[in-house]
Amino acid sequence: MHDDLTKMAEPYKIKMVEPLKITTREERIKLIKEAGYNLFLLKSDDVYIDLLTDSGTSAMSDYQWAGMMLGDESYAGSRNYLHLCEIVKDIFGYNYVVPTHQGRGAEKVLFPILIKKGQYVLGNMHFDTTKAHIELAGGIGIDVVIKEAEDTENYHPFKGNFDLEALENFIKDKKPENIAFILATVTCNGAGGQPVSMENIKEVRKIADKYGLKLFFDAARFAENAYFIKQREKGYENKSIKEIVREMFSYGDGFTMSAKKDALVNIGGLIAIKDDEELFTKVKTILIPMEGFVTYGGLAGRDIEAMARGLEEVLDENYLAWRINQVKYLGDKLRDAGIPIQYPTGGHAVFIDGKKFLPHVPQEQFPSHAICVELYIEAGIRTVEVGALLAGRDPVTKKEILPKLDFVRLTIPRRVYTNSHMDVIAEAVKRVYARRDKIKGYRFTYEPPILRHFTARLEPVE
Ligand code: F0G
Repeated sequence: MHDDLTKMAEPYKIKMVEPLKITTREERIKLIKEAGYNLFLLKSDDVYIDLLTDSGTSAMSDYQWAGMMLGDESYAGSRNYLHLCEIVKDIFGYNYVVPTHQGRGAEKVLFPILIKKGQYVLGNMHFDTTKAHIELAGGIGIDVVIKEAEDTENYHPFKGNFDLEALENFIKDKKPENIAFILATVTCNGAGGQPVSMENIKEVRKIADKYGLKLFFDAARFAENAYFIKQREKGYENKSIKEIVREMFSYGDGFTMSAKKDALVNIGGLIAIKDDEELFTKVKTILIPMEGFVTYGGLAGRDIEAMARGLEEVLDENYLAWRINQVKYLGDKLRDAGIPIQYPTGGHAVFIDGKKFLPHVPQEQFPSHAICVELYIEAGIRTVEVGALLAGRDPVTKKEILPKLDFVRLTIPRRVYTNSHMDVIAEAVKRVYARRDKIKGYRFTYEPPILRHFTARLEPVE
C-alpha cells in the first residue's frame, strides 16, 4: 500500500475502449492446433490478452491524438518534422534527426554507412533485427553483456551492463580498425528488459575514446532505462528523468530508435546524430531512396507529430513509475508463487525462465514455447518465446543454437491493460505451473529456412 494514495493507481483515465473477444477453452484448443501451435499464426481477435510485444501496441494519449489532427502532409519541410527536431534537440541534445518507418528502417539506413565488410559491432546484447542488419551490412554482431544477466535467480540492479573487461579485451584482440562501432541497447531487451547503468555507459565511452571508436545507442526503451537509473543508481535519485536521459545520451555519438516503444506510437523510428554533420549528410543520401525524403522518412506528418509528443510525454515520472511498477506487480506475483523469472523484472516485460519451469522438456523441444501454448489454452493469453525456437540454427553447421537464456516473454503494452488483467495473467501462469509435469515439448511439422519462429508449424512430441 502506498502512503501517497495518488500513486496507487493508473495516472490516467480511460476515454476510449476496445472490447476484448472472449473464447472458450475448447475453442482455444482447436484454434491453436489449427495455427500449427504457432501463436504468430493466430488471429488477434482470438486472443484475450495480447502480450506478444510492447512494440507499436501502446495506447496514445489525447494530446497525441490531438497532434494527429495537426499533421502537415507536405512532401518537404513539414512543420511536424521541425517540431520533432526541436524535441529531439531538447531531450537528447542531438543536432540532427530523421524519421524512419520503424526501428529496423533506421538500422537499414545507418549501419551500411558505419560498417565495412568483416568488421565487428560490439553490443551489450543486440536485438535480432539489429543483428540481422549488422550482418546484411557485412558485419558481425558480438554480445558482451555481464555474466550476471545469465543468472536469472539472483538480483543485480543493471543486468544490461557491458562486461567492460570483455569489451576491451575484444577490441585489443581484434584491433580497433576491425571494430565498426559500439552499440548500447537501452534497456537490454535480450537480457530481459534490463537496464544499463550510467556508470557503465560512461566507462564504455572511455573505452570507445581510448580506441577511437564511436558509441551509438539502440534507444527503443530509453526512458525506462533512465527511470531505473533514478531508482537504483547513487547520485541520480534527485535528478529528473529528462536530466538523466540528457546525460546518458551525452556519452553517445548518435542513436537508432524504434519509436514503437517509449515514443508511445504505433509506428515510427528515428536516426539521430549528435554533431557529425558529414555522417548526417551520408544518412540523408541513403534515407531518400530507402525510406523517403528527409522530412518524412516513411511516415505521415501526423505520425511524426504523435511521435514528437510521445517523446515528451514518456518523460513523465508518474507515468514511468506506474509503468515499471505494473511489470513488477506481475513479476512479484509470479515470484511469490515460486515461478522462475528473470529477477529483477525488466522495464517492458516479465521473462519466465522456460528451462527451469519445464526441466523435463529438452531445450531442443522448446520448453518456453510449450509454456506459451499452454498460456493461450489456459486463458487466451498470447506471449512470445525468446529462446531456442527464435534462435534457429547455426547457418554453417545447421545445428540448433541453444541459447543460455530461454524465455517466455510476457510483454506488457504501454497504458493498455489494467492490474485486473495482470491478476488474470498471474493466475493463468500459476495454473499452468501446477500442471507442468504433464506438459510436453514440440517438434516441427514445417520449419522455414530463416526467421522460422514467425511461420513455423509444430506439434506436441507424444
Ligand atoms: N531494437 C530493439 C532493442 C528492439 O526491441 C526492437 C524491436 C528493434 C530494435 C527493432 O525495432 O520493430 O521498430 O523495427 N523489438 C520488438 C519486440 C519487435 O517485440 O521486442 P522495430
